[in-house]
Amino acid sequence: MDNDQTSMVERSDDGDRSQFVVVANRLPVRLDDDGSWSLSPGGLVSAMLPVMRQRTGAWVGWDGTVDGDSERFEFEDIQLAVVELSAADHDEYYSGACNETIWPLYHGAIEAAQFHRETWATYRSVNQRFADAACAELAEGGTVWVHDYQLQLVPSMIREQRPDAKIGYYLHIPFPPLELLSRLPWRQQVLDGLLGADVVGLQTQADARNVLSGVRRFCKTDDIVFAADGGIVRAGHQTAVVKSFPISVDYHSIAAEADTDEVDIAVKALRAEIGNPSVVLLGVDRLDYTKGIDLRLKAVRELLIEQRLDPRETVLIQVAVPSREDVLGYEDVRNRVEQLVSMINGDFGELGRPIVQYIHKGLPFSELLVLYRAADVLLVTPFQDGMNLVAKEYVSARADNRGALVLSEFAGAAEELTDSFLVNPYDTEGLKDQIEAAVRMGEDEERERMVAMREQVESNDLAAWAKSFLALLAMA
Ligand code: F6P
Repeated sequence: MDNDQTSMVERSDDGDRSQFVVVANRLPVRLDDDGSWSLSPGGLVSAMLPVMRQRTGAWVGWDGTVDGDSERFEFEDIQLAVVELSAADHDEYYSGACNETIWPLYHGAIEAAQFHRETWATYRSVNQRFADAACAELAEGGTVWVHDYQLQLVPSMIREQRPDAKIGYYLHIPFPPLELLSRLPWRQQVLDGLLGADVVGLQTQADARNVLSGVRRFCKTDDIVFAADGGIVRAGHQTAVVKSFPISVDYHSIAAEADTDEVDIAVKALRAEIGNPSVVLLGVDRLDYTKGIDLRLKAVRELLIEQRLDPRETVLIQVAVPSREDVLGYEDVRNRVEQLVSMINGDFGELGRPIVQYIHKGLPFSELLVLYRAADVLLVTPFQDGMNLVAKEYVSARADNRGALVLSEFAGAAEELTDSFLVNPYDTEGLKDQIEAAVRMGEDEERERMVAMREQVESNDLAAWAKSFLALLAMA
């Protein structure tokens, strides 16, 4: 991204507040170490940026710097208000409470969650700063939409200061079942924080039920009404609707961007560059232990050993976007992944022709589209994932109705993309069978499955997601 896409603007607080304010840990852009701006990583930003492009408003968040000196600025007509993080905030709030406590706990505790009172105290104080910054941006009677696990206390903190506001909250990751939530020493604070919102949105019905079970167990309420996809909680004067709203992607713009002559040419060139193999497998993930990248590499390796995949005809492109490198667990998963990549390439590659093309960096979306179009099979194998928008991007990009998706049952997307090859990633034999089935299926089945998945994503796209959430919030 060019630096001139962001411009510093002076804005007085008074008289210039917004009717619509998004609050998220990250701003849509971040300032990198080399002084350049780039799009922030993660599904939240890729979903919310197109939503904000359709509206006017402000976005409150962190710009990715530590001990920086914040300035308000404008990006694509969105007012960005920076919440600064000190080095201690980064360690205790971002790395500690967010990514060593909540992240592993909410993802099924596949890595042990750490519980430290000091990091939780910083989580509270940083949440308060985000809440204060949001209140400073918000016009009288305006709508504020708080996002994700980093800011679970913010809804009630805003409610205290601004009873006039409409407050929405959306969680982009799974919400844990009672057995796991119960371990969190601050479980009641979290639930009371969320219940400050008028509408609490979750990715799946199971997540919504988990929130309600937690509320029933740990919070003081007057009444809880359960429905199929959520429920309503009444406590004092406050009513919160808890409901699933499966997030999606901008289907039409992705479909159009992927369906051009330039992309066709780039796809042919890419396949030629990697030796025109008959099978191109693809993985695109943040390098996170929840994503099951190591498991899928293990499965592919065994398929090669068992000669169920032909090494002369197979290439796996794995994009692993660097993430949270100083957080516990991330170095280990990187080591595991990179060891498997070298084992596969060492055992089955030829000079100048590796089986796994491993890319340890983020790619611009235009390049991802070429990969989506070039891949015969996309492998999405997380142990647990809120939604997984990569799966939906892939489906949207396949205007040619070709390609197959191997998808973990434990990704939120599995509730909707039932024409994928669903897998339990813990079951290595099952995973291998499904990868092989996806590679070998006939063209008719391939089209049928892809058409069905495309219809599903088209009819529940990003605009529909935002519209349904905001319509319910407007009625609150
Ligand atoms: O929504 C996807 C997501 O997992 C967010 O929850 C998270 O903020 C983001 O991706 C990326 O992680 P980070 O902000 O820690 O780089």
